[in-house]
Amino acid sequence: MLTINDFPSYKLIPHPTSITKLKRISAHLGGADIYVKRDDTNFLGGGGSKLRKLEFYLGAAFQAGCDTIIAMGAMQSNHARLSAAAALHAGFDCEIILGHKVPRDDPDYLHNGNLLLDRIMGVTIHETDAAADLMALALARKAELEALGKKVYIIPFGGSCALGSLGYVSCAFEIAEQEQQIGVNFDSIVLANGSSGTHAGLLAGCELVGGRAKVIGYNVLKPIADTLPVTRQITQEIFDLLQCEKLVDDNHIYLDDSYLGAGYGIPTDSMREAVRLMAHEEGLFLDPVYSGKAFAGFIADIKQGKFAGQKNLLFMMTGGAPGLYAYQSEF
Ligand SMILES: Cc1ncc(COP(=O)(O)O)c(C=O)c1O
Repeated sequence: MLTINDFPSYKLIPHPTSITKLKRISAHLGGADIYVKRDDTNFLGGGGSKLRKLEFYLGAAFQAGCDTIIAMGAMQSNHARLSAAAALHAGFDCEIILGHKVPRDDPDYLHNGNLLLDRIMGVTIHETDAAADLMALALARKAELEALGKKVYIIPFGGSCALGSLGYVSCAFEIAEQEQQIGVNFDSIVLANGSSGTHAGLLAGCELVGGRAKVIGYNVLKPIADTLPVTRQITQEIFDLLQCEKLVDDNHIYLDDSYLGAGYGIPTDSMREAVRLMAHEEGLFLDPVYSGKAFAGFIADIKQGKFAGQKNLLFMMTGGAPGLYAYQSEF
C-alpha cells in the first residue's frame, strides 16, 4: 500500500487548520457539542478547502514539467479562484474557464465576489454559457497553448478526482490527531458535497484511519441520484490509487439533498438563516452556495433529532465567504 507521501505535492497550507467549539450555537441547540474545522482559514487566495486538493495537482504539474494551469468552474467558483491563487503563488501561468451555470445576471454576481478577486489576480478568464462543456473547452485551450510551446496541466472540475482528494485523506488523518490532542471523538463529520471530492477524500481517510465518525454530505450541486455514484467512484479510486484493497461500502455514504433547494447556487431561506445565525452567534462567515446550505441542513437535522445520541459533531468550514459579496442582495 502507498501513503500520501508517495505522491508529489506542493505545500500550500503551512499547518493544521484549527478545530474550535461553537459554544453559543451548541448551547442554543441544547444537545451535542458542535465543533468547526476552519479550512476556511488557509492563508492563500482568500482561503478555502480547495487548497488541500491543489497541493497534489500542483505537485503533479511540477513533476510533469508544466508551466501553465487551466482550471474551470461556475462564474463564482471558489475552486477557480483558489486554483488561480495557488498556481500564481507557485509560479505557473493560469487560465480559468468559467461557465454561466447559475441563472443570475445581477452586477454583483457578474463582477463582485470571486470574480472580482480573479480579475485582480490578472489571470486569463474565459467566460462561457451554461450549456458549455468546460472540460472540452479546457482541452481545446490546452491544444492551442501547447501549439505555442506551453505545457499545460488541467485541474478537473471542482478539483475532484482521486489525486486531489488525497488532500482530504490527509485531512482525515489531521482530524484524528486533533481528536487525540483535544480529547474528543467525533461521532459525525459534516460537510457540503458539490463535486464530491472533499466528501470522498474524508470518507476514504476516515476508513483508513479506522475512526468511527460518519461522514455526512449535504448536497449543494446535484441530487443524491447523481451525487452518490460520483462520491462512490472517487472514494474507490482513492483506495485504488493508494493500492489498498478496500472496497467502498455504500452504507457508509451518507448524503442528504433536502436542503439543495431549486439548485446549485440558488439561495434558500434556510441558507440565509444559517449564514445569519453563524455570523450573529459566533462571528463566523459561511458561504451562500456550499457551507451555508450544508449548515442549514445540519442544524435543521439536529433540531429534528437526527443526531440524537451523538455527543461530538464536527462541521467542515470549507470557505467561500467571497461569494457573500456576489450575493449581497440576498441579505
Ligand atoms: C466553499 C466550498 N465548500 C465546499 C465545496 C464542495 O467541495 P467538493 O466540490 O469537493 O464537493 C466547494 C467546492 O467548490 C466549495 O467551494
